[in-house]
Amino acid sequence: MHPGTAPQPSQPLHLLQLTDTHLFADPLGEVYGIRTSESLARVLGQALASGPSPDALLLTGDVADDGSEAAYLRVRERLSPLGRPVYCVPGNHDEPRTMARVLGGGGFQVGGQASLGAWTLLLLDSHVPGEPHGRLGEAALARLEADLEAQADRHVLVAVHHPPVPLGSAWIDAMGLEDGEALLERLGRHPRACMVTSGHVHQAFAAPRARLQVFTSPSTCAQFAPGAADFELDVRPPGWRRWTLWPDGRIDTAVHWLDVDERPDRAGPA
Ligand SMILES: [Fe+2]
Repeated sequence: MHPGTAPQPSQPLHLLQLTDTHLFADPLGEVYGIRTSESLARVLGQALASGPSPDALLLTGDVADDGSEAAYLRVRERLSPLGRPVYCVPGNHDEPRTMARVLGGGGFQVGGQASLGAWTLLLLDSHVPGEPHGRLGEAALARLEADLEAQADRHVLVAVHHPPVPLGSAWIDAMGLEDGEALLERLGRHPRACMVTSGHVHQAFAAPRARLQVFTSPSTCAQFAPGAADFELDVRPPGWRRWTLWPDGRIDTAVHWLDVDERPDRAGPA
């Protein structure tokens, strides 16, 4: 949080989640016919022109499609002028070491945790080298358990590229988070509000539960068709997710689509 801009704990926190930007070293690089760098610029323009100014940005993986230093540098150049902290987790397309080197420090953070008012943001690494699916592993789960114990009096937002639940889309669920159930089991024990948000699936999804809820955000470029058994592109435009985190554990979150409507998912008690 930048000096002078840190919200007081009694105020809500506004986050802007951008995911699966899939940038390339080549600024004209495309994913399914969409120039990803241009698409990100349009998303940013519309997202910042509407709604409350974000206190922080959250990038939930596949920041680069090609894992190149140039792609991460472009993200830094695009987002640095906003003067807001940018929290990142790697996706399956990312090159975690290059990402951490280019996007570590100077207002950017890859992995670890951050304090956001009454909430703690936990940034988990589910990248498995050379594989589309995700895994946290026993060591990371043990660390998470310790982190949760230390944060027992705080609400928690977990960011992880691969969603920990199946979405009902066979080809996507086949490359999900291998130890998603183990993650949910640990998060389910947390006594305060606990939200999980992911990317990877290039579509909006929400699985509300009593206190532990799982969300995904659409990509800032191409989308996949919800419920499709096999690979299928969706006609929906680039999108993003907004978050409002309240000090008492309530959340408001909504998905927005470029140049079209917004879809509130849920606003309920923790
Ligand atoms: Fe992706």
